[in-house]
Amino acid sequence: MSSLSVSPETTSATEVSPLAVKVEDLSITYRTTFERKPTLKQALVRFGRGQRAVREVHALKHVSFEIRTGTALGIIGSNGAGKSTLMRALAGILPPTSGSVEVWGKASTLLALGVGFNKDLSGRENIILGGLASGLSRREVEERADDVAEWTELGDFIDMPMRTYSSGMSARVGFSVAVHMKPDILMIDEALSTGDAKFREKANAKMAELRQSARAMFLVSHGLGNIKEMCNDVLWLNQGQLMMRGEPEEVVDEYMKFVKVKQTASTDEDI
Ligand SMILES: Nc1ncnc2c1ncn2[C@@H]1O[C@H](COP(=O)(O)OP(=O)(O)O)[C@@H](O)[C@H]1O
Ligand SMILES: [Mg+2]
Repeated sequence: MSSLSVSPETTSATEVSPLAVKVEDLSITYRTTFERKPTLKQALVRFGRGQRAVREVHALKHVSFEIRTGTALGIIGSNGAGKSTLMRALAGILPPTSGSVEVWGKASTLLALGVGFNKDLSGRENIILGGLASGLSRREVEERADDVAEWTELGDFIDMPMRTYSSGMSARVGFSVAVHMKPDILMIDEALSTGDAKFREKANAKMAELRQSARAMFLVSHGLGNIKEMCNDVLWLNQGQLMMRGEPEEVVDEYMKFVKVKQTASTDEDI
């Protein structure tokens, strides 16, 4: 090894580490076509068939940011803010409507929680599929699958079809796959909001461990305490727009102020 090499541990914060993710002017619009049902009266009057209608949702609007290696990025924002959409775009599951997403690290090792589960297969079978999808060889997957299955603590349920699982149980499988398949970039979407306290503690410990080895981590969570604890960088989305990005304390504080103002302004709105 040359004397110039620097290990990640000795890299100071002021030194610029390589980019892990670059998102430029990213917009994502969902277009859903649906049959507009005639009202009962219209239906009676003219036996009308439904009209085809298109609903567009601008889930992300001109979002730009860069993430350097070693970052544990928390993503916060109210329901419908675009957090999961951003995660899917980062995972390469959802193509940008406009703008670009660049990720350094094998795309196959990016895992989004619960994406791609086949509900008719058992938890164990989904673990195997998840491993293969993340780019591991069949042999590597076979070596790990039992440990991963064990880690979920689902007992006999692990061999039952996943459609019989509660959302908390599915989240356990997703989380276990995500953390055990040696991802370059670890992505966890709301995993910790489900499940009991004991499992959450175990999951937190596992994530802290992975923070050391993964190139970058993305965590979407409603647990602001968790975000502050696990992340060194936070991005706040609101209605598809990037509101603020920076130190966890600062961004979380601003977000909380914003939520309070909104709550007093209108009580029936979902924050
Ligand atoms: N598959 C989809 N088809 C149409 N609209 C969607 C789809 N997924 C999400 N949306 C809409 O996009 C917006 C952002 O959703 P999402 O990214 O799931 O937000 P969050 O994860 O922050 O709650 C919401 O208005 C949601 O209704
Ligand atoms: Mg979401």
